Amino acid sequence: MNTNNTPAAADVAMEALLELARQAALLSYSPYSGFRVGAALRLTSGEVVTGTNVENVSYGLTICAERSALVRAVSQFGPEIRIEAVAVVNLNHAASPPCGACRQVLAEFILPAAPVVFPASDGLRTMAFSELLPLASEMKLLR
Ligand code: THU
Repeated sequence: MNTNNTPAAADVAMEALLELARQAALLSYSPYSGFRVGAALRLTSGEVVTGTNVENVSYGLTICAERSALVRAVSQFGPEIRIEAVAVVNLNHAASPPCGACRQVLAEFILPAAPVVFPASDGLRTMAFSELLPLASEMKLLR
């Protein structure tokens, strides 16, 4: 919010991204945890790609909403995509910051300054990706 009490354009854009993530969460396949998660990625091209979690009876082969969205984004728009903003929601009224595996996978395509909004224990929180996974670009395995 700015001083006139009107939301900044960036806040409006994040709210729209959160709403798309909520729509995606409705499609969750989560019979084992019942935890329904949605993610929306905004690309530098302006395109938005969503994903949801897809669980597996093995548990370990479950794919989180964030990775599901990312794989879809590359499949749809190719390897040059760059992610400039991420929204994560769940329909369970619980905290769900992106897990470590998702941070690592996002690091391939995300801008370090990209805002990532997610449900924390005290409500929605926004952090720059570089805060969620410090040193990601300096510590790349290969260049
Ligand atoms: N999950 C996500 O999809 N994203 C998150 O950010 C947190 C966890 C999923 C994985 C699993 O299907 C369920 O939520 C419970 O952990």
